[in-house]
Amino acid sequence: MDLNQKTIFILTGASKGIGKTLAIECCRLFKPESLAILFARSASGLEETRNEIIAVNSDITVKVFPLDLGEISSEEYHDTLTNALDGVGVNDFERAFIVHNVGSVGDVTKSAKELGDIENWKKYFHLNVFGVCALNTEFMRRFEDIPKLVVNITSKVGIEPFPSMAEYGAGKAAREMYFRVLALEEKDTTVLNYSPGPVDTDMTIIVQEESMSEELREGFRSSREQKTILTTQLTTAKCLAVLKEFKFKSGDHVDYYD
Ligand SMILES: NC(=O)c1ccc[n+]([C@@H]2O[C@H](COP(=O)([O-])OP(=O)(O)OC[C@H]3O[C@@H](n4cnc5c(N)ncnc54)[C@H](OP(=O)(O)O)[C@@H]3O)[C@@H](O)[C@H]2O)c1
Repeated sequence: MDLNQKTIFILTGASKGIGKTLAIECCRLFKPESLAILFARSASGLEETRNEIIAVNSDITVKVFPLDLGEISSEEYHDTLTNALDGVGVNDFERAFIVHNVGSVGDVTKSAKELGDIENWKKYFHLNVFGVCALNTEFMRRFEDIPKLVVNITSKVGIEPFPSMAEYGAGKAAREMYFRVLALEEKDTTVLNYSPGPVDTDMTIIVQEESMSEELREGFRSSREQKTILTTQLTTAKCLAVLKEFKFKSGDHVDYYD
């Protein structure tokens, strides 16, 4: 797959971690006059990402939207994209490319049998599943007439159970199945479920510090100590290699270690 195209690019969770590096490295590849639309809560984090993108590719436009995606409605997504695309001739682009990267780890202090609060589940699923589907629906509709690439950042935890990660795993499993169905239905859209492996980000620091599972806390502590934990650069390079080689079938789950 040739990523060096005039691209409309959307990425959620762009202020830090895997999303920040993915945003920079994807934008590095795009043709002049591409447009990147980035979401996260932290305005300063998004500005930093924007500056780093412009430093590697000054020929593209970067628009940032500091929003809490854990509370956003379908209408707000609609209005935000209308604003972001104001004056933009969508059909002049060679590809629309979205990375659903946003994610939170959920309550890792509790075991599955303790997770009985429906409001908490709704809050978790709003950010990690419902909002993702809402944004993706807007994406599919707005870019109906141009080739589309959809990357969902998933996890091994969505296909294999890990202690203390009932909320996280349930969210990732639901989200991944949504994208598998999308791939099945939309033959003209390429969908990749990319699982980045264990990466040194704020998310895994939370697991290392707060998980009720000693096994998980210890696992992350020792992988940090022994420096076997992945960097955002390593996993981003793998994700881009998977896309460029394009050996996956649309909808596949591809892991860093595959
Ligand atoms: N790290 C790993 O080992 C690992 C492994 C497998 C999968 N993943 C997945 O990779 C993705 C990125 O994770 P990461 O490790 O890079 O985590 P991270 O460093 O915590 O980054 C999460 C990103 O999501 C944004 N975000 C979180 N809550 C948000 C909210 N309510 N509204 C808007 N944006 C929000 C954060 O920005 P703000 O705080 O500025 O809002 C940040 O940009 C996630 O989907 C995660 O599940 C990570």
